[in-house]
Amino acid sequence: MSHDDLSREELVARLETERRGTSETDNLLRELRACQLKLEAQNRALREGQEARDDALSIVTHDLGNFLSSIAMASDLLARTITAGERQSGGELLDAIGRATHRMQTLLTTLGDAGLMVAGCFHVDRRPDQLQSLLAEAVATLRPCSVVKRIRLSLRVPDDLPWVVCDRERIHQVLANLVRNAVQHTPEGGTITLEAARAGQDTVRVAVSDTGSGIPSEDLPHLFDRYWRKGPRAQGGAGLGLFIAHGIITIHDGQLWVESDVGRGTTFFFTLPVAERQPPAATATS
Ligand SMILES: Nc1ncnc2c1ncn2[C@@H]1O[C@H](COP(=O)(O)OP(=O)(O)OP(=O)(O)O)[C@@H](O)[C@H]1O
Ligand SMILES: [Mg+2]
Repeated sequence: MSHDDLSREELVARLETERRGTSETDNLLRELRACQLKLEAQNRALREGQEARDDALSIVTHDLGNFLSSIAMASDLLARTITAGERQSGGELLDAIGRATHRMQTLLTTLGDAGLMVAGCFHVDRRPDQLQSLLAEAVATLRPCSVVKRIRLSLRVPDDLPWVVCDRERIHQVLANLVRNAVQHTPEGGTITLEAARAGQDTVRVAVSDTGSGIPSEDLPHLFDRYWRKGPRAQGGAGLGLFIAHGIITIHDGQLWVESDVGRGTTFFFTLPVAERQPPAATATS
């Protein structure tokens, strides 16, 4: 029906309906815009809050690091200069100071690494390296953590594992984070296995699996978030280990992911790129 066919009243009624519709749409648009502005303001405040927190954290981290180094040096010097008699009465206290200082230094390094990652300033020194020996070294270094809980820590790698491009120290850090988590969440007498195998032409895949508690599926999406951890913070770490491991693997052009079965255990996988040119066999086995 065209406007010509409508009576004047019908036409007025229809125009009125259309006008109301338009003004409702206008109102909705205005509300939407107001919501958008409010959200933008909240986002800005959140970002500024986060930046202020990160700035404060980096200043505190830096200054505390200096104080802790002084404490570490002083207690080390004291431990070396006290007499045998003095050691009997104060040795345990000195050891406790040494251990606490070391733990605080580790925490500060972790906070520093996380801060650098967020700021996009975290750098790695990547070069061709022999993954087989890196994994063996990591297992030897980490074994004492597992022995305390009578956990078997084993390594399975094929002899022909190709060289990878990586920052050896940083991949050690990833393995230490994964194995320490595994030890923490595996009951006494359990098993932790490190495996590595070529996965396609350009990639090596490393797996760290445990026979521990497993991780509920609703927690999986949060695992690699900064500061995320299960349970009260007072009962454990900072919730940074996996965040940092993820950052290190990503900067290596690799991937880190997890598969878990509650009550049966967890496996973390990560990939590293195969080195384009493999060093000569003689170097590879040295
Ligand atoms: N192998 C695992 N088995 C079960 N839960 C795990 C395992 N690895 C990590 N998780 C869970 O993921 C959370 C985050 O781990 P992440 O290493 O990031 O932090 P954290 O170990 O709590 O502290 P941090 O490593 O900073 O000392 C842990 O608190 C734990 O709940
Ligand atoms: Mg951890």
